[in-house]
Amino acid sequence: MPSLRLQYPIRTLDNLLLFPPETLLTEEALDAVIDSHRADSYQTCPLLSYGSVREDCLTFLSLPPYATIFRDKKEIDDLLNLFEIVHFSIPILQSLDYFKQHDLYTYTHVLMVFALSTLLAKDLIPNYEECIRLAATGPTHDIGKMCVPLHILKKTTPLTKTERGFLEHHAAAGYVLLGYYYKNRRHLACTVALDHHERRDRSGYPRGNLLEDPLVEIIAVSDIYDALIMPRPYRSGAYDNRTALEEITEMAKQNKIRWDVVKALIAHNRKSNPPYKEMTVSAEKRGVPPSYNVHGITAEETDPKYRTG
Ligand SMILES: [Fe+2]
Ligand SMILES: [Fe+2]
Repeated sequence: MPSLRLQYPIRTLDNLLLFPPETLLTEEALDAVIDSHRADSYQTCPLLSYGSVREDCLTFLSLPPYATIFRDKKEIDDLLNLFEIVHFSIPILQSLDYFKQHDLYTYTHVLMVFALSTLLAKDLIPNYEECIRLAATGPTHDIGKMCVPLHILKKTTPLTKTERGFLEHHAAAGYVLLGYYYKNRRHLACTVALDHHERRDRSGYPRGNLLEDPLVEIIAVSDIYDALIMPRPYRSGAYDNRTALEEITEMAKQNKIRWDVVKALIAHNRKSNPPYKEMTVSAEKRGVPPSYNVHGITAEETDPKYRTG
């Protein structure tokens, strides 16, 4: 990994400072932090047995549009069986408590990205072991948001450029935190945390890298979809399902995300649930995005008081 200049600090949930702001994040620097706590050991627990995760997952899956995507009861049972295998160490699971208590949107989001990405992986990745490996990255992909102030995560008006930078910091912070807890910066969860906002045309962040790992791309598409169809603080409501799928189709047309993942997602939204390879995607655009949406707009663009000239 090329080095990355951290603008903001990275702390664990128990407030241990791993990197102060202005650190040049290199593989060597992260390895040194990992080595410093190599002797620490953590208990692990199956994700579904932790707190109310099982009930919460089932509740979220019963709501639209997930109720359509997961309408097949056998599919849900298969998925739950797969989920049983996913274990995390206690500090990672405690991040879910943090989000459930302070930022319910992120809590719901990470569980649904977990469920949806696992479903899509079953279509797109024939290797069962790879599916399990991927499933264990969904619930942690946004763990770095623990390092972003809650007032930024919950802001309803445009973010300033500084706040935007702080929000984007969650990708590098997640990479570091997961490297620390797994004691291995090469763990797939670390790659997913760092790269899930990268795009195939290099228009993403934090590095503007080429998004080309099929596993990370499944998380990236699941992440975008869930962000569109669930309520968010910065817009007047959620995208309806049709409009969300049209937005995602547009992103695939612009080569930002992978077509076959998008097709698999659309196939699960069709009543007939056709095999994704046989899918034809309509080019027609009929959806209406929410009327108020300040995502991607900075305060400097909209409010003269932030302009510096
Ligand atoms: Fe994210
Ligand atoms: Fe996310």
